[in-house]
Amino acid sequence: MIIASNFKTNHTRKSTREFITQINNFVKNNSLDVQVRIYPALTALDSFECEKSIKIGAQNFYPTCKGSFTGEIGFEQLEEFGVDSVLIGHSERRHILKENNELLVKKFNFAKEQGVEILYCVGEPKEVREKGIDAVMAYILGQFDGIDLDYKRLVIAYEPVWAIGTGLTASNNDIKEVLKRLKVNIQKPLLYGGSVQVDNVGDILNIKNCDGVLIGTASWEKENFCKIIDTAQKIRRVKL
Ligand code: 13P
Repeated sequence: MIIASNFKTNHTRKSTREFITQINNFVKNNSLDVQVRIYPALTALDSFECEKSIKIGAQNFYPTCKGSFTGEIGFEQLEEFGVDSVLIGHSERRHILKENNELLVKKFNFAKEQGVEILYCVGEPKEVREKGIDAVMAYILGQFDGIDLDYKRLVIAYEPVWAIGTGLTASNNDIKEVLKRLKVNIQKPLLYGGSVQVDNVGDILNIKNCDGVLIGTASWEKENFCKIIDTAQKIRRVKL
């Protein structure tokens, strides 16, 4: 089970360090073994001493080790901090930053060559959801064009665009249906993301085929994220 926090454009270097220290202490002091991922702002990356189950990843990178790509960050800079997990295809990068499929495939292949864990995000916008489940699946499966679904260190995050940062969580039935259909084609851990909260994370993690969550807003406060990790750990114990 993977519990991931996407900081997006939040937290400073100082508050990121405090956050990671507190989460690490919580995991260590309670001997938790649920997998935790934290994706801070790139400026806050550093060499953090963490428990084995915690990885600090990168929200973004350019598919290069180094070079002339003003404003971008390559793997030489990520490796300096031992980054071993990256996000690719987040809806904010697809829709706001206009990353197209061609660039996402390049990023995917580059990260794959580096052998890092890839959290590949997919999800439909509202107008597609309104057309029904078949349209949703066609849209999502299209987002896998050119993506190697056999990559060993691939994790998928299903994040409906209309549920991100809106307070509108997809219904448990909607999540269940999409994950069930994804599982037919993809034998990889499947996470859900989109307005996951402290008080609904338990229900979401109990959905069949749900192997974890990718959280924005509700995870940015240390206490909340600890509560979420704690809930996940309890469910993992029952599921085992
Ligand atoms: P929220 O949890 O704020 O809806 O964000 C979800 C998300 O985009 C995680 O990557």
